[in-house]
Amino acid sequence: MRKPIIAGNWKMNKLILEAVELAREIKNRTGSVANKEIVLCPPFTALSSVKEVLEDSPIKLGAQNMHWEVRGAYTGEVSPMMLKDVGCTYVILGHSERRQYFGETNSIVKKKVRTAFSTGLVPIVCVGETLPEREKGETLRVLEEQVKTGLSELTREEGKGLVVAYEPVWAIGTGKTATPDQAEEAQRFIRKLLGQMFGGESAQAIRILYGGSINPDNISALMSCEDVDGGLVGGASLNVESFVKIVNY
Ligand code: 13P
Repeated sequence: MRKPIIAGNWKMNKLILEAVELAREIKNRTGSVANKEIVLCPPFTALSSVKEVLEDSPIKLGAQNMHWEVRGAYTGEVSPMMLKDVGCTYVILGHSERRQYFGETNSIVKKKVRTAFSTGLVPIVCVGETLPEREKGETLRVLEEQVKTGLSELTREEGKGLVVAYEPVWAIGTGKTATPDQAEEAQRFIRKLLGQMFGGESAQAIRILYGGSINPDNISALMSCEDVDGGLVGGASLNVESFVKIVNY
């Protein structure tokens, strides 16, 4: 049995006080949820304050990005050790916005995934096709390249601890959600690839999240898919009402 994860990716939103307020309300309203793992991914500047709010709660802290080295002369970057130090359990890697706006390639993602594991962070590795790629029938080929390159340096044992997020780029922030069939087709394919890479037992243990315009009205149908093990929520995670409804789908 894979425990579902509902993760909020706050992206570049929320000042410290706003982040603390949102985290506190989420904590108060989801305190009794035990059958799902809740993860909050605030911006770097709010990690420390949100961690304090979450201290006595099962809600986990995640970051949205990191560098692939643990320290060094990389002006402006944040290292995985710093994320561990501030109390992160998870880190989102290879988000399509990083790929699209900051030139992140599959081989950069691979280096980051490798370092996340060696530092003791659990990566949430994002993959997903763009609209032109889907329209050209290239979805599965793109996913295969992202999964096979991005995760190529992990051992079978490490593979088991991985989290993958299928986020079709055309569904992010657009209000166009993938249908449950589209999500299931992609996520079943991803699990098959993970099975080839890490063995069937590990592949069955890996949580594969869906992300892209999740809201309180579409979460149940998505979660009813066999290979959808949770959600990576953007816009709807910035509002306590909608995020709590998603958690309680
Ligand atoms: P939206 O839920 O705003 O579409 O964002 C999804 C996402 O990118 C989560 O990482």
